Amino acid sequence: MSTSNTRIAPSLLSADFARLGEEVRNVIDAGADWIHFDVMDNHYVPNLTIGPMVCEAIRPHTKAPIDVHLMVEPVDDIIPQFAKAGADVITFHPEASRHPDRTLSLIRDHGCKAGLVFNPATPLQWMDYVMDKLDIVLLMSVNPGFGGQSFIPNTLTKLKQAREKIDAWQSNGGQAILLEVDGGVKVNNIAEIRAAGADTFVAGSAIFGQPDYRQVIENMRREIARGEQQAS
Ligand code: DX5
Ligand code: ZN
Repeated sequence: MSTSNTRIAPSLLSADFARLGEEVRNVIDAGADWIHFDVMDNHYVPNLTIGPMVCEAIRPHTKAPIDVHLMVEPVDDIIPQFAKAGADVITFHPEASRHPDRTLSLIRDHGCKAGLVFNPATPLQWMDYVMDKLDIVLLMSVNPGFGGQSFIPNTLTKLKQAREKIDAWQSNGGQAILLEVDGGVKVNNIAEIRAAGADTFVAGSAIFGQPDYRQVIENMRREIARGEQQAS
């Protein structure tokens, strides 16, 4: 497992929605790598958040990649809108698309990185026939819909399994695929999450729930480095 090739992606879900532009600038200035943008439709998940217009509104506030996590059903119609709004990465839940292979192609055709999101009970086999179309795989470590939930421990086993699939793919000449984790990620568990194989870490309440974003992000990086030592 490579060291230091990791990313911290604060989830705006726990940011102050009345000051989103400022929150984006502050958290990137504090050392974050990506902005994680949670889109909920009160249909696929029982909550309602933000859409392409808000993505477009925050886009001028940072050059950092915007990582759009779609928790919507259906999926396809909203993809061109997010690409136009400045999204860099778009992930979706395969059960929410009638044709996941087509949806992955649609995201890439619009110039964005594409990925599948796996709920805690969604099997990793959804990856198997679309490996060549994946830029990222996102494992949910909570059930989607809300920030501030507790990390589901079995995700560590699933991360190892996903890591093995990705490593096998890449060692056979396949393209790079990032492995992202989302839900309940904190300073006190990020080391074991890294050791299990994740390289991209979404954290909402752990970062935006504290006054000093820089301190949390530094602590997370220190723990990520410790997790790498455990794994090597
Ligand atoms: C949950 C969202 C997550 C959420 C994570 O459906 O996809 O991105 O904001 O929040 P925390 O880090 O507080 O669990
Ligand atoms: Zn998310």
